[in-house]
Amino acid sequence: MTLINENYLKLKAGYLFPEIGRRVKAFTDANPEAKVIRLGIGDVTRPLAPAVIKAFHDGVDDLARGESFHGYGPEQGYDWLSKIIIEKSYKPLGVELMPSEVFISDGSKCDSANILDILALDNKVAICDPVYPVYNDTNVMIGRSGEADDKGYYEGLVYMPCTEANNFAPALPKEEVDIIYLCYPNNPTGMVATRTELKAWVDYANAQGSLIFFDAAYEAFISEPGIPHSIYEIEGAKTCAIEFRSFSKTAGFTGVRCGLTVIPEQLMALTKSGEKVALNKLWNRRQSTKFNGVSYPVQRAAAAVYSEEGWPQVQETISFYMENARLILAGLKAAGITCYGGVNAPYIWLKTPEGMKSWDFFDKLLNECHVVGTPGSGFGPSGEGYFRLSAFGSHENVQEAIQRIQQKWGK
Ligand code: MLT
Repeated sequence: MTLINENYLKLKAGYLFPEIGRRVKAFTDANPEAKVIRLGIGDVTRPLAPAVIKAFHDGVDDLARGESFHGYGPEQGYDWLSKIIIEKSYKPLGVELMPSEVFISDGSKCDSANILDILALDNKVAICDPVYPVYNDTNVMIGRSGEADDKGYYEGLVYMPCTEANNFAPALPKEEVDIIYLCYPNNPTGMVATRTELKAWVDYANAQGSLIFFDAAYEAFISEPGIPHSIYEIEGAKTCAIEFRSFSKTAGFTGVRCGLTVIPEQLMALTKSGEKVALNKLWNRRQSTKFNGVSYPVQRAAAAVYSEEGWPQVQETISFYMENARLILAGLKAAGITCYGGVNAPYIWLKTPEGMKSWDFFDKLLNECHVVGTPGSGFGPSGEGYFRLSAFGSHENVQEAIQRIQQKWGK
């Protein structure tokens, strides 16, 4: 008989966003006339930038001609894309990288899960609570945890609460941990980390010999000066951190799929016998074996994000979404609802009115206001009593959603 990976059976619930999708579908099937406004999953709604579309088309046209046809590309991504990312996205931050340190992929969700392949199971992992569920669930799936307790904490994983009490900035773990997941700007809270806070993490990791997974998928939404866009802006980060980035939210690639992972050449981890091994080499080996690269037209489209025409177009879309974030934040505050984030991130993290539980608020908001958001408890036990709204809709829908919330809960 075939045996399954029983770690999957430890997972308490289905993945958060399909669960929301199921509830919304049940509602819309029963109420086909309702105008449902979706501010749940962080999925973009604006079309790709014209310069990106043109490059995408050009890439497809290249495939139509023998002389410009491309078959398998490098598993690490084309050099011209890595080089332009380094030049336009890292150099301005004062970060020097080599193309061999940048791995182009089909998205940071996959990378942040697949990276576990190259690390031993007995590493102790610390994640924030609330957290992007992928970090938690993939560690459970791979067998790094025991069962979940009644609250939803899995045995063997270290949870770092991010609450109002610590301004959603996790404290350094008291026990020794080997891998730390940080996501800034944060999903789900929309909060950011200062240079000083990140320096404390980098110093901790270098001192302990631990590894930071830094998810910077939302860095393009930072609006305030002085907030780090990359962990490598922090001295010492190249010896302790891997960074994930994404074109999904930055340039509307959620349906196109492109991201990148940076692994500095000097980043080492140990064998059981204490021998140092470069993680860059291991990841390269993993990718060459399990991945055949991102399609050529997609990489052409990604490169166009940094072109003279593409960059301002992409920035305009980001500003459009951040105007939504501003409208949501202002509207909720006017209704007397406590909220966080939304200034350097496309997510607003609000305290549910009347102390409602997150899923109760979800159901009420859907049934009575026809607005979809994401229950905070879906991101972890410390998210209970919170709720996330995303800023990726149209201005009209965002304004209407806020009006409906104000009518229902405004003071
Ligand atoms: C979210 O809504 O948290 C994101 O869209 C999830 C993701 O990027 O995978």
